[in-house]
Amino acid sequence: MALLEVEDLRVAYGKIEAVKGISFRVEAGEVVTLIGTNGAGKTTTLRTLSGLLKPVTGKITFDGQVLNGVGAHKIVAMGLAHSPEGRRIFPRLSIEENLQLGAFLRRDGDAITKDIQRAYELFPILGERRKQAAGTLSGGEQQMLAMGRALMSQPKLLMLDEPSMGLSPIMMQKIMTTIRELKAQGTTILLVEQNASAALSLADHGHVMEIGKISLSGTGQELLHDESVRKAYLGED
Ligand SMILES: Nc1ncnc2c1ncn2[C@@H]1O[C@H](COP(=O)(O)OP(=O)(O)OP(=O)(O)O)[C@@H](O)[C@H]1O
Ligand SMILES: [Mg+2]
Repeated sequence: MALLEVEDLRVAYGKIEAVKGISFRVEAGEVVTLIGTNGAGKTTTLRTLSGLLKPVTGKITFDGQVLNGVGAHKIVAMGLAHSPEGRRIFPRLSIEENLQLGAFLRRDGDAITKDIQRAYELFPILGERRKQAAGTLSGGEQQMLAMGRALMSQPKLLMLDEPSMGLSPIMMQKIMTTIRELKAQGTTILLVEQNASAALSLADHGHVMEIGKISLSGTGQELLHDESVRKAYLGED
């Protein structure tokens, strides 16, 4: 059984159906990406997996357990972490305090300290600025903090919602390199990205979402070389 299995998931905001019956799976150790245009339902999908939204129908299985009806905190404790769209760091708290909050469900103080060190190794700038208010960080640095914070729950599956949003090409490269490093260290990743070319280049599998449905699935390389994907998402004609 895959680490994450999503079967015929439907999610609605009142009468608006944002996710219209999607199915996909994420095997342990993989990077899987969801790409698609604005409003396709990518964020809605991640928020539902996190327990922040309740599906209309569909079954979500994570690490052998059904997630339907399980609360958001419990889902984090089970090993599913979410770095949300727009980062949502706590601007008045320091970098270190933000990282500590990512470990709020843990009681293993020494290991938490080690994991904070690990976040600083992954992103040295965060270590240099550890006492600084998080709101004073640049956009790219805030993205690093959001990823570092999500990792503080020691997730089996890390969900990243548009980590490259608003970043310079160099910062974006840094984030993509970090995703590769995390994968090499054994973290399974579900990556939502507008930057289809960067996401597909490093993904094992990808799914194209269009108005609430998955229109195309394949390996990262298959989608990267698919003509319809190239036209619609990679700006080629
Ligand atoms: N709180 C909400 N209330 C009503 N409709 C919503 C709400 N949040 C999202 N929607 C609608 O659901 C659909 C899917 O939105 P979602 O945020 O999941 O898209 P997305 O694929 O993440 O897009 P983007 O790439 O722009 O982030 C959109 O039509 C959006 O307007
Ligand atoms: Mg979104």
